[in-house]
Amino acid sequence: MNTPVVTIDGPSGAGKGTVARNIAYELDFHLLDSGAIYRILGLAAIEQGVAFDDIGGLVALANSLELSFPFDRERTGIVLDGVSLGQKLRNQIVADAASQVALNPSVRRALMGLQRRQAREPGLVGDGRDLGTIVFPDADLKIFLDASVEVRAERRYLELIESGQIVERSVILRDLEIRDFRDRSRDVAPLVPARDAYVIDSSEKTVAQVVMEIQDLCKARRLA
Ligand code: C5P
Repeated sequence: MNTPVVTIDGPSGAGKGTVARNIAYELDFHLLDSGAIYRILGLAAIEQGVAFDDIGGLVALANSLELSFPFDRERTGIVLDGVSLGQKLRNQIVADAASQVALNPSVRRALMGLQRRQAREPGLVGDGRDLGTIVFPDADLKIFLDASVEVRAERRYLELIESGQIVERSVILRDLEIRDFRDRSRDVAPLVPARDAYVIDSSEKTVAQVVMEIQDLCKARRLA
């Protein structure tokens, strides 16, 4: 039997990360934060002076990554080559770099194995943009978590303020709109719901409500 996989895709700020962590915690499954992989690659490109259009350089970087995502109910950790990364990935510069390196099909292909290797027993919950469509097309349950751009920008704003960053609401909104457009309109792995995805709009819902809804779906599919 294949390892059970739950995918949660959607645009930035829809709440995917928190929801995925809660579901993984409840099911006692492993967790994959695929956005963090693209963020690490974006950050590594900046730090090592690899241009966003240097495909060979980016693919070499992508092939060298070894990651895991230890987590508890409150927090998702990221361990790269045995070293724990803190909040270093959670800023606008890295988010923008991530969505630029993510445009390239060779880079995406190079990261496929790393993502698929996270599907280990007893199961995996992953969040991203193309997990249900490309990375795990046979996933047992696919969720597409959406929310209005205004709600998503406000959530991202509060998250960044809470982590001590000085940001402006209008800048966050503009950045989200640019990143959304880039993610939705790219040729490879664009952000779209899988045909068999269950679409949830979280604009008017709390995290707890969304988690409960997904837990019910997991139960109905005998994943819980
Ligand atoms: O989810 P997060 O905001 O951390 O993702 C950062 C960027 O990485 C996204 O804007 C997107 O361009 C890219 N990404 C992707 N495919 C994924 C996850 C993230 O292209 N599965």
